[in-house]
Amino acid sequence: MEGYFFSFEGPEGAGKTTIISKLELFLREKGWDVVATREPGGIEIAEEIRAVILNPAHTKMDARTEALLYAAARRQHLVEKIIPAIEKGKIVLCDRFIDSSLAYQGFARGLGVDEVLSINEFAISGYFPSLTFYFDIDPKIGIERIYNNRLREINRLDMEGLSFHNKVRQGYLQLVERFPHRMIRIDASKSIEEVFVETVAVLMQRIEGKEK
Ligand code: TMP
Repeated sequence: MEGYFFSFEGPEGAGKTTIISKLELFLREKGWDVVATREPGGIEIAEEIRAVILNPAHTKMDARTEALLYAAARRQHLVEKIIPAIEKGKIVLCDRFIDSSLAYQGFARGLGVDEVLSINEFAISGYFPSLTFYFDIDPKIGIERIYNNRLREINRLDMEGLSFHNKVRQGYLQLVERFPHRMIRIDASKSIEEVFVETVAVLMQRIEGKEK
């Protein structure tokens, strides 16, 4: 039996990582075999690509190059880690996937959602997640959360940074409207517990009654 593939999207501070670890434990206790992963997914080739993207010395990197590299890292992660897990009947929980590229590169960086979608459709060859949870939060609150949790001051939050994150959010909201069959918006301004309960309810509806 084929497994399930769920992705989790949203800006920094939306609580994706916390919710994914809680879900992982919850599903394991229910007897499911779970793979929690994140892009680039801890596989060697994808990590090397990611290091190239994030290297601060690479100031010359063109926005399209960046989009292609994310798509390349995604492809390798999908083939090496996600597809084998789905084929073994596991539940894959992936922190960021195609919609990060659509919102960040396509919308916020202005490359065009359709252009970025087309290179990513080539990269994922039909392997869209069964469902994508978009954790929606005002980026200002998300960034404040990050710094509050780490007991640090908000010192990197300049206005330009915030306006970029606002664009990312706008991009995600447009994606949820455009792809309602494969994306669901969760209000992530609520407490972690409330967000978790809502996410579990939606996810369990998708998998209930299926074999483990
Ligand atoms: P992180 O939040 O998982 O650490 O992701 C690192 C950054 O990479 C985050 O700012 C979002 C960005 N990103 C993209 O711009 N495009 C993508 O396709 C992916 C996967 C991440």
